Parts: sequence; C-alpha cells; structure tokens
Amino acid sequence: MLVIIKDDYEAVSAEAARLVVNRMRKKPDLVLGLATGSTPLGLYAELIRMHKEEGLDFSKLTTFNLDEYVGLPHDHPESYRHFMQKNLFHGLNLDPRFVHIPDSLAMDIEDHCLWYEEQIAAAGGLDLQILGIGGNGHIAFNEPGSSLGSRTRVKTLTAKTREDNARFFGSLEDVPRFALTMGVGTIMEARELLLLASGEGKAEAIAASVEGPITAMVPASIVQMHPRAFLVVDRAAASKLSGEYATTFEEAVIVRRKV
Ligand code: PGA
Repeated sequence: MLVIIKDDYEAVSAEAARLVVNRMRKKPDLVLGLATGSTPLGLYAELIRMHKEEGLDFSKLTTFNLDEYVGLPHDHPESYRHFMQKNLFHGLNLDPRFVHIPDSLAMDIEDHCLWYEEQIAAAGGLDLQILGIGGNGHIAFNEPGSSLGSRTRVKTLTAKTREDNARFFGSLEDVPRFALTMGVGTIMEARELLLLASGEGKAEAIAASVEGPITAMVPASIVQMHPRAFLVVDRAAASKLSGEYATTFEEAVIVRRKV
C-alpha cells in the first residue's frame, strides 16, 4: 500500500481528486466505487467543480455505492441514496442507468445482495473504490469481526457505529440497526483502492490498519494485502503511525520502487 500524508483535509481532498480524475482521463467509462460519510465530501466538491468549470465529463462513468441503511425510505434525509444525490450526483452529468446504490427497501435482501454483486461483475468489476474508515477500523459497514472474504450482505451495526452516526439522526434510537454493505472480499476485488482519512479520531484506526496485524477485528487492515491501495491521510489521522511515509504520489511511487 502507498501511504501519502498531506497537511490537512483540503490537501487530502485535492490529492484524492487528482487520482480519481487521472483515472477518468485514461478510462472515461471508469467503474468507480463511491463512499458516503463526511470524509469524501471535499473530494466530491472538487469533482463537481471540475465538471462545472472544466467540463469534466461523467456521462460514461458507472458507479457503485458501498452501502446503505436497511429500511429507510429512499428520500429519507439520512439515506445514502439521498446523501449521494445531495453531495455529488446533483452536480455531475452521470447517466442514472449507470448509478448503483444498494436498495434500502429491497423486499428480498439476500436476492438483492446477489444481484448487486452480479451488477458489479457485469460492469467488468470495480476499477477504483473510494473508502473512508470508521473509528473502529470498519470499511463500508464491515464492522470489526466481519469475514475478510465477505460479499455484499446485510450487517448488524455495532453500538459504536450507531453512536457515531446518531448525530445525523437526532437520537440513537432513530439510527437503523442494519445495513446492506459490499463485503470485504467484494472491496478487495477492486483493481485499485483509495482510502481517505482525516482527523485525530481516525489516528488509531489508521495506525492499526497500516502497521498492525491483519485481522478481522480491524477490517481495514486487509488493505495491506491489496496490490494497489493508496491511503491518503492528513497529519492528524497519521499521528499514531511510526513509519516514514511519502507526501506525494510521485514520492510514494519512488519510495516503493526502491524497496
Ligand atoms: P466518516 O465515516 O467519513 O464520516 O468519518 C467514515 C466511515 O465510517 O467509514
């Protein structure tokens, strides 16, 4: 994995946008995995800016979101479908036929999860998956203890994740108990991973994921096994790392070539 440490959140977002746009320029029909949460917001704002100001074309892109709460109406302000519309899709020229988000209201959840996996495969697999990381080391809603080979399925949210997300719902009771999520195995099949983290609250999870043992108790630690994973983090999120890391992609690639 290539770890790149930037000064602050703005620099993390700019570096992430640079990598995504780079891939889009090489492959306009990129299959892009999208994440929700506060971390990718700066990246999404930059993609919208580049579409509006520089005419960056998203019409050939296919997207797959990582996860969704079970049971929320599609237009619920906290559904990830709503989140994506509000924070990214409204500002781009994506073709709605190529946009995929797990369905919070799927009647047959198991069947829907299988269908989701089939759609990813039919699109040719994920080229690049954007990831955040939970304070507990989760990726998507793969909570600690998730099988490292898991596929898209329903997961029970941990108390920690529900508490972390309660701020959006007003009260803990209103946070759904279940979510649909791509599995760790699904995510690991993406050809490239771009994991972003910002702030002190992520420092332990980042240190455990980068420098700790690979364990299902820190699902993000499996990223160590990925042949093309980029971790772009700010100084605060990197504060518990003990190794030496690069500050740009170019430097990171040179460092890697040396070893
Ligand atoms: P955040 O969430 O970006 O809002 O910190 C990340 C996550 O829980 O995966």
